[in-house]
Amino acid sequence: MKRNTFYSRFFAYAYDAVMRKADQKELAGRRKALISRLSGSILKVGVGTGANFSFYGQDAQVLGIEPSGPMLKRAKEKLPQKGSITLYQAGIEDPELDKLIPHASLDAVVCTLVLCTIPSLEAALDRFHRWLNPQELLIVLEHIRSKKETNGKLQDFIAPAWKAIGEGCHLNRRTDTVIKNNGFETVKEDYFKQLVQWYQGIFIKSDNLQTHQL
Ligand SMILES: C[S@@+](CC[C@H](N)C(=O)[O-])C[C@H]1O[C@@H](n2cnc3c(N)ncnc32)[C@H](O)[C@@H]1O
Repeated sequence: MKRNTFYSRFFAYAYDAVMRKADQKELAGRRKALISRLSGSILKVGVGTGANFSFYGQDAQVLGIEPSGPMLKRAKEKLPQKGSITLYQAGIEDPELDKLIPHASLDAVVCTLVLCTIPSLEAALDRFHRWLNPQELLIVLEHIRSKKETNGKLQDFIAPAWKAIGEGCHLNRRTDTVIKNNGFETVKEDYFKQLVQWYQGIFIKSDNLQTHQL
C-alpha cells in the first residue's frame, strides 16, 4: 500500500523534529550498535526519513522499503554518498516484494520503530522467515506494551487516539512476544524504559540458535 496523503506529508515533515530528543538520548546509540556490524544483503522495513542510513557499514547492501511517498522523499535526501542503499516504495505486505526478494536470500532484516505500525505483524514475520538465510538475523528496536499491568492498561486506553495521530502506530503491541511465538528465537535482548517501554532484540529463525555465533 503506497501513501501520499496530506497527513502523511505532515507526518514526514514533523518526524525528525519529534524524534530528535529520543534519538539523541538513547535510540541513535542503540541503532548504531545493532546495525553497524551487519553485512551482506539487508532488508530495512520502513526506512522513514533515513534515520539508520549513517550506521550501515561498507559491506552492507541495503534494500529499504517505505510505503509513504513523503517519507521516501526525505530519505532520498539523506542517502549517503558512499555505500549501497536502494530505496523502493512498498509496504511489507505488498505482494510485489516476493519478486524482488528471493527465498533465503537475506543476511539480515532490520526493523526499527516500524513493527508497531505494519498491519499484520504475524504476516510480516512469515515473510522474514521465508526471506532470511537460515543462519541470519532479525534485528528489532521497538516500543512495546509495558509488562507492568497499570502502565499497559494506560497504553491500551491511549492506543486508539495514538493510532490516529501516529499513522497507524499501535502503542500497545506485544511485539516481543509475537516474534517469539512466530518462528524466531532470541539471541540477545534488552528491555529499557524511555517514557514508554522499549525493546531491542536480535533473533534467529527457530532451530538455528545452537549453531549461531554472535
Ligand atoms: C515511526 S516511523 C519509523 C521510521 C524508521 N524506521 C526509523 O527507525 O526512524 C514508521 C515508518 O514505517 C512506515 N510504515 C508504515 N506502514 C508500513 C508497512 N506496512 N510496511 C513498511 N513500512 C511501513 C511508515 O511510513 C514510517 O515511515
